[in-house]
Amino acid sequence: MYNNNPTLEGIKVIKEEQQGEVFFNPKTAGPEVYPAGTRRFYIESYGCQMNFSDSEIVASVLSEVGFAPTKIMEESDLILINTCSIREKAEDTVRKRLKIFNKQKEARPGVKIGVLGCMAERLKAKLLDEEKLVDLVVGPDAYRDLPGLVSTIDEGDKGVNVVLSREETYANISPMRLHSNGITAFISIMRGCDNMCSFCVVPFTRGRERSRDTFSIIAEATDLYEKGYREVTLLGQNVDSYKWENPENKEVVNFANLLELTAKVHPDLRIRFSTSHPKDITDEVLHTMAKYENICKYIHLPVQSGNTRVLELMNRTYTREWYKNRVEAIYRIMPDCAISSDIITGFCTETEEEHQDTLSIIEFANYSMSYMFFYSERPGTLAARKYEDDIPLEVKKRRLTEVIRLQNQISHKQNQNDIGKTFKVLIEGDSKRSDQDFKGRNSQNKMVIFPKNGSTLKPGEYCEVKIAEASSATLKGSMV
Ligand code: SAH
Ligand code: SF4
Ligand code: F3S
Repeated sequence: MYNNNPTLEGIKVIKEEQQGEVFFNPKTAGPEVYPAGTRRFYIESYGCQMNFSDSEIVASVLSEVGFAPTKIMEESDLILINTCSIREKAEDTVRKRLKIFNKQKEARPGVKIGVLGCMAERLKAKLLDEEKLVDLVVGPDAYRDLPGLVSTIDEGDKGVNVVLSREETYANISPMRLHSNGITAFISIMRGCDNMCSFCVVPFTRGRERSRDTFSIIAEATDLYEKGYREVTLLGQNVDSYKWENPENKEVVNFANLLELTAKVHPDLRIRFSTSHPKDITDEVLHTMAKYENICKYIHLPVQSGNTRVLELMNRTYTREWYKNRVEAIYRIMPDCAISSDIITGFCTETEEEHQDTLSIIEFANYSMSYMFFYSERPGTLAARKYEDDIPLEVKKRRLTEVIRLQNQISHKQNQNDIGKTFKVLIEGDSKRSDQDFKGRNSQNKMVIFPKNGSTLKPGEYCEVKIAEASSATLKGSMV
């Protein structure tokens, strides 16, 4: 679920004459003309998909008060950065970007700079002291307040709102699809996290867990389908604990129910979800996945560590055996399902043998891919308060290298195994390398590249592809 690259895909700026500019409007998937003089915001997003999804809420809120998006920082009036605090490196990246934004401000004095998201929440008004040229600090639950905050900074004051909420889900805000290709989109189904994993800053930056109104989720999925989207990813830090009570009849919708309702929107709308917590993923969810062809056979199931003692220190609330049992249940109920993971090496007091347990669980689970990190202590977390960050950096990094090497081997072997198989692929567009090739994903979330061969198929359509070649990252084949 982690992505550290800023993207603004989806907003195609087509330069026009003086009167105004034509934008690709991600809401309507058509061109939209903005009058000359329209104020522009530029936004970069870092961190997890939730943050990318939040930037689309921010864009929508700003568009309601007359702001238009731009991909070009140099022509924007408001520069925003939606930040991540998950590891020290993520925050360093943000600070580097702020230096670049400050140069813009020096060159064009009217420009305002805003810090949004998790780093805004963690550092609050302190950010204004640390980064003098920042005008605006807004936490993840305060985006509805942006119009008011923008007026405040227009008057020359600083704007800060980092109040966390127990209710906010932005359920009624239709996101402006900044990061989308018009085929795949994210839908936030819940916010916050109530799991106090000892290494993790998210409960502090995102607040308490709350689930979004089921009807608004289904309405958003239906609307996306009608606009030509063919894949939605349901997002939350722990989707398996989704729980919403219908105030009308007191009926409770759990994650399995929500999956089923979303799958029924249309058989041609693919459903993905992220992230699943090993302690909460139920057989009911797995059986629901198996029942619907359009629920993708792919589960991101972060293990973090393969050793029970370390898992306990991490406060993950499951054991190695519990995790293995969940993996076995997945492969039993859906033999063609792919599983991916997040792994942390060098957590406090981790021994060499305990690290070996992580390597062996990677092999056991046969992950299609993993996001792998070395432990980075975060101020204020349980681990920072209770345990010493005692594994030397070189050791953390060496263990990480071992984990990465093993995962690459397994991904490669797994993909080699796909040679000769035929997969249903949703075409997402041209491949990066050549406009003669399409790219798309199979149900297992693997990228598949194949030649167009004069076909009249378009992005958003499905086709069957037989795999002929495989690397650790992609499959290549031809249409059948
Ligand atoms: N909610 C998801 C994870 C969100 S954070 C879950 O429970 O799995 C994404 C990943 O970042 C985590 O799974 C973890 O592997 C990693 N991570 C979180 N805090 C970290 C830290 N302090 N140091 C290194 N990696 C960390
Ligand atoms: Fe962090 Fe754990 Fe919540 Fe994931 S489940 S966001 S790792 S506290
Ligand atoms: Fe996501 Fe980073 Fe915040 S991973 S929830 S943006 S700390």
